[in-house]
Amino acid sequence: MVKVITYGTYDLLHYGHIRLLERAKALGDWLIVGVTADDFDKQRGKINVRQSLMERIEAVRATGLADEVIVEEYEGQKIDDIRKYDIDIFTVGSDWVGKFDYLNAYCKVVYLPRTEGVSSSEIRESRRPVRLGLAGDARFVSKLWGECAFVNGLHVSALYTRSEALAERGRRELELVTDDFDRLLEGVDAVYLRTRPEEHASQLRRALEAGRHVLCESPLTLSRAESEELMALAREKKLILMEAVKTAYATAYARLLLLVKGGRIGEVLSVDAACTSIRENGEDGAEWNGIHEWGPTALLPVFQLLGTDYRDCRIAARFRDGGQDSFTKLDFVYGHAVAGVKVGDGVKTEGELVVSGTKGYLYVPAPWWKTDYFELRCEDPADNKRWFYQLDGEGIRYELVAFTRAIERGRLISDIDESVTLAISAVMEDFEQRRNMTLL
Ligand code: CTP
Repeated sequence: MVKVITYGTYDLLHYGHIRLLERAKALGDWLIVGVTADDFDKQRGKINVRQSLMERIEAVRATGLADEVIVEEYEGQKIDDIRKYDIDIFTVGSDWVGKFDYLNAYCKVVYLPRTEGVSSSEIRESRRPVRLGLAGDARFVSKLWGECAFVNGLHVSALYTRSEALAERGRRELELVTDDFDRLLEGVDAVYLRTRPEEHASQLRRALEAGRHVLCESPLTLSRAESEELMALAREKKLILMEAVKTAYATAYARLLLLVKGGRIGEVLSVDAACTSIRENGEDGAEWNGIHEWGPTALLPVFQLLGTDYRDCRIAARFRDGGQDSFTKLDFVYGHAVAGVKVGDGVKTEGELVVSGTKGYLYVPAPWWKTDYFELRCEDPADNKRWFYQLDGEGIRYELVAFTRAIERGRLISDIDESVTLAISAVMEDFEQRRNMTLL
């Protein structure tokens, strides 16, 4: 029996794929199709895949051409597979000519002519892109703007800013640059807010009322009730309202959460996170509260790991003359655990994350909020383990992909639960009201 293997992403299966599979099948008696896993595609820089791995596998299966479907998960797997499945022929389309000649040492390599005039990329691009308007003055807007270029189906078309540097770039690259927020809303499908948190509530309301989807940097608002109301408004209008915290989309961080939830370090007794920078003013030159700048990021692992049902939250804060906090420490007490968060714009400490459990602890070195790596540390160092993951664009890229897909599908599967968003807003509200606060 002649065994043939071929690999691909098979996103939005098209007749080019089917013709390839038909000819691959005709090369032998048994065809194995390797479908690339989402993570593997991410590593290869292919982040625009529209369908999930399972959807793509199902589509390949439905062709009836594959005798077996496998998942391709790591670099070098092809050699392993060829040996494991005793493959006679490896085949792919002619767009890969020469690339897989090294496999000749293990089996016969056949490049089949690629079907002209069709590709998954073209199908993805042919859909009307989501027109995005950016709002904000900080340099971070520029960073996110750059990341949009990697996201298929998203087109930055307008900018609302008071920053001259951003406006200048906008005038070169965009259809509209304005200092009128309502004008920004006119020609876009969605907006990204990196404005001051005090402005969010009113801007979110205006955007949602105007029928625009919103990606809003956390905190959503400075009041739990207001955030709840805006979420309800988004639901009523069938719009996507997504809170942005880029760290939630960093693979290493997301995997750490899963390990902890899977019981790897036993019962979690403590979460300690610090995020600080020495900056008198926010990065847009205006004065920002340290708690607004860093609070949501540092609170994320606390709420995602321990839940939002804490018994007590005590705040200690130091304020500048202008009224903004330069250092804030939050101490949470849960029924079963504690958490400590240190944030500030005007203080420096080790920006690490430590999750302590009854069987060991997870340690993420500074700056943990943009990490590609973490460690499990145990009583016996022989049990220690390290994990490494690719981090592209600090997580922003994947966050934008999640937002764009949510708009296309009309449904948000966020990495941040609504309960977490509301708990962050509630902490901001406590802070605003100076509840349970000691002044330093
Ligand atoms: N293929 C083909 N003819 C096409 C498109 C793809 O023969 N018009 C082949 C590829 O050469 C590969 C397999 O189908 O062997 C799976 O390709 P994949 O990369 O999944 O599809 P593309 O349409 O090329 O995807 P993209 O545009 O994202 O690169």
